[in-house]
Amino acid sequence: MNTKDKENKQNIKKVKAKLTKKEFSRFVVPSLTLARKRLIKDTPVINFNLDDKLKGFGLGKFYLMKTYGCQGNLADSEKMAGILEAMGYQETQDDSVADVIIFNTCAIRENAENRVFGELGRIKNLKTIKKDLLMIICGCMSQEEKVVNMIASKYPQVDIVIGTHNIALLGEYIYEAYTKNSRIIEVFSKEGEIYEEVPMKRASSRRAWVNIMYGCDEFCTYCIVPYTRGKERSRHPQEVIDEVKELVKEGYVDITLLGQNVNAYGKDFVDIKYSFANLLEDLSKTGIPRIRYTTSHPRDLDLETIKVMGKYPNIMPHLHLPVQSGSNTVLKRMNRKYTKEEYLEKVSWLREYVPGISLTTDIIVGFPNESDEDFLETLDLVEKAGFEGAFTFIYSKREGTPAASFPDSISDEVKKERLLQLNEKINEGFLKGNLRFENQILDVLVEGYSEKDPTMLTGYTPHEKLVNFEGTSDLIGKVVKVKIIKAYSWHLRGELV
Ligand code: SAH
Ligand code: SF4
Ligand code: F3S
Repeated sequence: MNTKDKENKQNIKKVKAKLTKKEFSRFVVPSLTLARKRLIKDTPVINFNLDDKLKGFGLGKFYLMKTYGCQGNLADSEKMAGILEAMGYQETQDDSVADVIIFNTCAIRENAENRVFGELGRIKNLKTIKKDLLMIICGCMSQEEKVVNMIASKYPQVDIVIGTHNIALLGEYIYEAYTKNSRIIEVFSKEGEIYEEVPMKRASSRRAWVNIMYGCDEFCTYCIVPYTRGKERSRHPQEVIDEVKELVKEGYVDITLLGQNVNAYGKDFVDIKYSFANLLEDLSKTGIPRIRYTTSHPRDLDLETIKVMGKYPNIMPHLHLPVQSGSNTVLKRMNRKYTKEEYLEKVSWLREYVPGISLTTDIIVGFPNESDEDFLETLDLVEKAGFEGAFTFIYSKREGTPAASFPDSISDEVKKERLLQLNEKINEGFLKGNLRFENQILDVLVEGYSEKDPTMLTGYTPHEKLVNFEGTSDLIGKVVKVKIIKAYSWHLRGELV
């Protein structure tokens, strides 16, 4: 062993000793049982303010953010990045340069969690190179008591664990962990306040996420989200409208309104009567060129909203409407509160009021005891609804949810076979949905150069179809006319007009 190796080995020992010796300055662990409870009360609003002691605290230092999961997490990461940059930190993609590494995690399926644990193991030794490196876990995995207890006892390389309800206090936690040289676990089971005016570092300068509500009260029996994100609480309409007006001023073109069930927007207001359809209509008048929203719950999507979609040309003709299953028995056991027939009725309204709309969905196969007949009902629904894309999943058991204790006699092989069969059908829909645009001239918001083919520009149409075409970099960020010359399963090939 040479001196360098020896030195390195000694360093590892020292850091390990230091790590295990670090005391907790806070230790609050979440409980899924508590998270399930819903209290009927108005959610207080707090205006975010960066404490003076945090200003400049991160100057000369770097952060690296790893985001897993849904758009909700992407938006949260933009807020945390905003806070860090307000403190003076700069972003890096290089983990050997980072002073702070943040894992914004997802708990929706088991494989999402395994990936994070794999990453944590992989970067463990970075602490031997950079002793002051802070490793932070936040997001939905942090809301699971099992995960938090495991991190506390088996992952000493993790310095801070915070949950989905306290990301606005990220700066305070970093300050405390450094100044007290301590570990911190502070995860609240229940939602607290809505924070407004949190600085955001948006990933794009043309497309933006806009949270309109937080949490979920649906309690689909398979799903962990109502536990990890707390009760449904809507942002005040004026806050949302002001944010969108600001985005218009800054030159944003395409916004996506975010919530786990945006159609429930406003149902928690105690002082005003104001629905999602009202919000959508008011936002379409702000002058933003493109509005989208996700995710919709088929039960709560109402005719009023669909009519507003058809009335304003800047509300995009694309909707992601997760169906989960086509079997009424399975839908009932999933607690989805609609039938296959009701779902298809809403699809017909959408097709009537928003001609040419592109529909995409989410489907779970292998839900406990899903029979062959149930699965055939799903295939039939896919056919009838005419989806142009879907995220398909094999059911993953989530501890603490009702479905985790449902009996299941379906083998893994059968579930995998169903997924393959379903995907085949979905892919047909993908291609069909693209073929209908051949020879048409479409408006494309140019995102940048394609990752797969750097000679091509890439962007999205109003129907959220991906188009690749040749062009120069000055077009990035603009909406341009592109003639579609060929449709493929996953993208369209076009020519600048
Ligand atoms: N709020 C959204 C989506 C939340 S999660 C909605 O209701 O549509 C995104 C998708 O993950 C869900 O639509 C569902 O298809 C899938 N999903 C959620 N829990 C799952 C589980 N336990 N196993 C497999 N897929 C799951
Ligand atoms: Fe999960 Fe259902 Fe809520 Fe969607 S609506 S987040 S699937 S509980
Ligand atoms: Fe995952 Fe949480 Fe979103 S579980 S899908 S990151 S709400």
